[in-house]
Order: sequence, then C-alpha cells, then structure tokens
Amino acid sequence: MTRFTFSLVRRSSSLLALALLAGTQGQTATPTAVPTLPPPSALITAQPIGDSIFPALGQAGLDVLNYDLDLFVDRPGRSELRGTVVLTVTATRPLPVLSLDFLGPQVLDVRWEGLPAPYCHDQTAGKLTIQPPQPLRPGTLARVTVRFAGKAGVRPDPDLPIDVGWQAVPAQGDRVGANFTLSEPDGTRTFLPVNDHPSDPATFTTRVTVPAGYTAAASGVERAEVAAPDGGRTFTFEQTQPIPTYTLAIHVNQFERVDAAAVPVGVAGSDVLRRDYFPIGTQADTRAAYTSTGEILKVLAEWFGPYPFSAYGSAIVTPRVPALETATLSTMPVTSSNTRVLVHETAHQWFGDQLTLADWSEVWLNEGFATYAELLWAQAQGEAGEEIVRGWYARAGRSQTRPLVATSEAQLFDTTAYIRGALALHAVRVTVDDAAFKGYLRGWVAGFHNRPVTTADLLAYTRTRLGATAGAALRLWAESPELPPFPQR
Ligand code: TRP
Ligand code: ZN
Repeated sequence: MTRFTFSLVRRSSSLLALALLAGTQGQTATPTAVPTLPPPSALITAQPIGDSIFPALGQAGLDVLNYDLDLFVDRPGRSELRGTVVLTVTATRPLPVLSLDFLGPQVLDVRWEGLPAPYCHDQTAGKLTIQPPQPLRPGTLARVTVRFAGKAGVRPDPDLPIDVGWQAVPAQGDRVGANFTLSEPDGTRTFLPVNDHPSDPATFTTRVTVPAGYTAAASGVERAEVAAPDGGRTFTFEQTQPIPTYTLAIHVNQFERVDAAAVPVGVAGSDVLRRDYFPIGTQADTRAAYTSTGEILKVLAEWFGPYPFSAYGSAIVTPRVPALETATLSTMPVTSSNTRVLVHETAHQWFGDQLTLADWSEVWLNEGFATYAELLWAQAQGEAGEEIVRGWYARAGRSQTRPLVATSEAQLFDTTAYIRGALALHAVRVTVDDAAFKGYLRGWVAGFHNRPVTTADLLAYTRTRLGATAGAALRLWAESPELPPFPQR
C-alpha cells in the first residue's frame, strides 16, 4: 500500500524522487493500513530546514518536543542496536508528511498515535517519510512511534578524520566492548530517527538495557535502574531541558560511576548533581582532571549565569577521538583528560547545548565562547591571561582567516571558529570593564536561550547592551576578510 501511495505521486520534486526510490525497499506497516492518496502538493511541502551548510537536514515546520527512547544494546562493542523511539511532535505549519533524518537500522514498524502508518525509509538519502492519517497542524500534538533494529551506521565526519554517530568500540585485550554516541554535527541520525538540526532542540527520556556487568549512562538525570532478563539492567535517564540532537550522550561500558558533591550553581541556586563515569581500569592520572569539575562549574557559572541543567559530569572513552560537549555528560577521551579541554566542554553546556544554533554556519558562536572560557578559567586561577591571548593571535595569524560565519563544511571547526571566535569576544571585552563584560555574557545566555541564535543576534545584542564601540569591534572581528589588529584596551 505504501509503495502504491508514494509511487503514484509522480512529480519532479527531489523528495518525491527519493520517496519513489525508497518505495522498493519501504515496507507497509501492516496490511490493514490503507492510506488515502495524498494530494501531490502535500508531499512537495516536506522541505528540509534549509541549513546553509547541510541543506538536506531536518524538516521545515516540524517541532519535536520530546524523544522517548527505549534502546537495547545486546552486545556492547558491536554496532547492532534495537529499540523504539516515541517522538512527541507538533508543527509550525501544516505538515502533510513527516520527514525524519534516519540513516540507521532497519525500520520495523511505524505508528501514528498507536495506529500503523505508511512510511518510506530511504537509507541512502537518510530520510524516513511518514504519512499521518491527516496533516499535522500547528497547535496539535502527535505521538509517532518508530521501532527499529539492525546495524547502526556511522557517517564520515565532514571535516575531522573520524566517523560520527553510534560508536562501536570492540573488545581488545582486557578491555571490554563498549558503545557511545559522538554525533556533531549530524551523527544522531545514524542510530535514531530525528529532526537532526540544532534549531529544533528537544527533551529526551532515554532507557537503555544492557547485559550483565554493564552500565548505561545518558544525558540527563538518572531516574531508575532495574533488573532486565539474563542479569542485564535497564537504566533510565531524563533530560528535561531541551537539547540539540547532536548533544545527546549515550554510553554503554563497564563503568565505575563516581559521585561527587552537588554544586549549587543551577537555576535559582539549585544543586547540580555531579557524577563521572570511568571505564573500569581507568588510570589515576586520567581521573585526576575530573576532580576540578565542581570548581570549573563555579567559575563558569559566575561568568555565564546559572548552569542550565540538573546534572553535570564526564563519561570517559578510550578511543582517540575529539572531546564532545554532550549535554550534562561531556564525552571525554582518555587522551583529552586535561583541565583545559574539560573547561572547554563544560562551557559548551551553555554555548551549544543551552543556547542553540540557528544554522551550522554559526558554529563559531559555540566554539568561540567555549574557547574563550579557557581564558576565563586561567584568569580565575591567577594567570594574567595575556600570554593566552597573544598565543591565540599568533595562531590566527599563521592560519588562513575568514569572516566568522562559515560558508562550507570544511570551515566549521577550523582555527577561525575557535581562535578568531575567541579573539572576537576579547575584542568586545577590551572596550568595557570586566563587570560590564560579565553582564554582557550573562545577558546573552539569559536572553537568547529560547530561540536558536545567529551572529546577527549577537551583533544587535552587543550594540544595545554595550554600545557602538563594542558593537563596531565585534562587527570588525565578525566580518573583516583579514585578521583585525590585536585587541587592546
Ligand atoms: N565541538 C567539539 C569541541 O570543540 C569538536 C567537534 C566537532 C567534535 N565535531 C566533532 C567532537 C565530532 C567529536 C565529534 O569540543
Ligand atoms: Zn568546542
């Protein structure tokens, strides 16, 4: 039935071509699902979000509020994953179809409010197209259930020499097999059907069932740990503040969970729970970096305002990959277990995880602020910081520069995003005193966490908050094709 539905709609849009292609491998949910033929124009309105770097990602008009995950990792260290995700969705415009990003395992079943719904899963294009009984309208909620099983993919990172997505770390020597997510910018779609764009953050409930001896950890606060068949256990985590899909952490390993004293730097002085996850056998010198986490939270909360989530810590991973700012639980490789990187990832909890990007071209708004936090930390430790800023400027001078808003995938995580981004903030800072600069950083977080941010937002905010001189300084650093002069008071 599904095949019939989609293949009859012969129009020239690429979505249709895609749906047609997928028709041969798409499955009908059950024979009882008799879809009515959608008007062709209906399918044509399934447009991606229109990201300037990743034009195919996401669906325009779709607003996912919550992902409720029930995952089973039967054999840690391998890429097989099975589970069910229930998406609670609404729309900002009428949506005749739902178009989720999904490269991952085979889809077994799709339901709309509990009833079988026709769908097409095009694993090559990475889109799962679902036909609701009637269009999803603004102001209405729907629950969409997707059951899947099979190999979770990874996709080559657009510019780092790694694969993003569901990481499978095979057993080796006395190390047991493990899995974890590493998804920036678009790896979450390798294992979950999602609206895979930072402009649509959502809350997550994550249940992970693992075999005997294993621990699961995920973004959010742990709510339950119950016995599963064969000595396994099911861990439940709740992430009640919305986060971008790429920041979702899920870890499966033989972990030692280490709890530390809560830190009262949350919203309205609330306690932030502190827990770190160390793979059994983690060396003492690796663990040492994480004893500073509480102090880092205090220093950064002083500059940025309340820590946005209810818990914070790190999950340590053994492969040599870059560290990632997964929400409430930074993903920290053994090889990056040092204070500077931890400060950087912790700062991303505000910049990237709470404040989210409107477009991937704006990623310096994450990386520039997180890099700048390294200076703020050093200064809180008594350093003048001058050397750090000089070092940044020298580094920026040695590499190619460009305006801060990126124009290609390759630019996303380059020296400009990190170092010129940090220098741009320093250029703002030197136009005012530190009290004003602190108010400026806190005001940016407080005022802009409810909608995705752009450089234009920051420029306008800078002018109104700090005045024309600061505004002009940021503008020069944001827009000049050349590296501007060294920022000095
Ligand atoms: N945002 C990461 C950081 O600066 C860097 C990063 C970009 C990354 N893409 C990644 C890390 C993919 C891991 C995987 O902290
Ligand atoms: Zn970063």
